[in-house]
Amino acid sequence: MRSRLKGRDFLTLMDFGREDIELFINVSLELKRKLYIGEAHRHLDGRTIGLLFEKPSTRTMTSFLVGISHLGGHGYQLNPQAMQLSRGEPIKDTARVLDRYLDALVIRTFGQEIIEEYAFYMNSPVINALTDLTHPCQGLADLMTIWEKKGRRRSRSLKIGYVGDIWNVCHSLMVISTIFGYRMYVARPKGYEPDPRVWRFVEENSGYTGAEVVLTEDLEEALRDADIIYANTWHSMGGPEMEKEKRLRDWRGYQVNSETIKFAKEDFIFMHCLPGYRGEEMTDEVIEGPHSVVFDQAENRLHTEKAVLALLVP
Ligand code: CP
Ligand code: NVA
Repeated sequence: MRSRLKGRDFLTLMDFGREDIELFINVSLELKRKLYIGEAHRHLDGRTIGLLFEKPSTRTMTSFLVGISHLGGHGYQLNPQAMQLSRGEPIKDTARVLDRYLDALVIRTFGQEIIEEYAFYMNSPVINALTDLTHPCQGLADLMTIWEKKGRRRSRSLKIGYVGDIWNVCHSLMVISTIFGYRMYVARPKGYEPDPRVWRFVEENSGYTGAEVVLTEDLEEALRDADIIYANTWHSMGGPEMEKEKRLRDWRGYQVNSETIKFAKEDFIFMHCLPGYRGEEMTDEVIEGPHSVVFDQAENRLHTEKAVLALLVP
């Protein structure tokens, strides 16, 4: 596929402009259409894509592997425990070696600086499959789902009420909301604050796009008249899960359930990146209820990741 984005890394959505992100979604919609009608779209013919995951994954790993296969490429799953990385080989050596073999590397890891180091030492595109800071693949699938369910033209009037960890998924949705001029109200107990790098992006750009990203301790304020309720775990992988007991106490009042959804608009949709924890950030009747679009959202991970690969891999 011809594209002006060939060879670029995909590390955070903050590195891309509105037109780029619209291109990712337009191509995602096109690839989804082609898949549904059975039209071939082998944009990765003969390419080998490595996948190096240092945290668990169901959706991201599977959708990348399946997507690469739809595109006619080969996905090669790397096991960090079985690599010399586990015996102390530096990232800068690992990255330069992998660059000689692979056409792109998809990485799920902890700090954003780790993925930045790979990107620095590799010529092939490095794609962020989740770090502590951001989850840009999730952000694209979220935007695609919002456009499919609420219409892409309604941008400015949309209100998202977000409940859950102020971590990768929240940060990517803040960036999307900032770029597309959404109103995103984030409910959280005081002391759980966004990363300064993301918050600076929000503050520097909201004025231009008309976005309104608000942090509140008041769950009702976040959910009141929301078009979208977006829930995420209270205890993300990595650091946050180490303090799970404390978080279960701190976040107890921040649940999306049959009472708190009454604050939202009648036609609201319920989104969640998954995995979700019933009885914590949301209840079974909400995720299984008529407003829930979580499985369409999960499916869109496949289409958006295929678009990222088709547009970036040379
Ligand atoms: N939403 C998401 O990234 O899911 P996985 O952790 O299963 O990949
Ligand atoms: N915020 C969650 C997202 C999982 C896909 C985490 O990092 O664990």
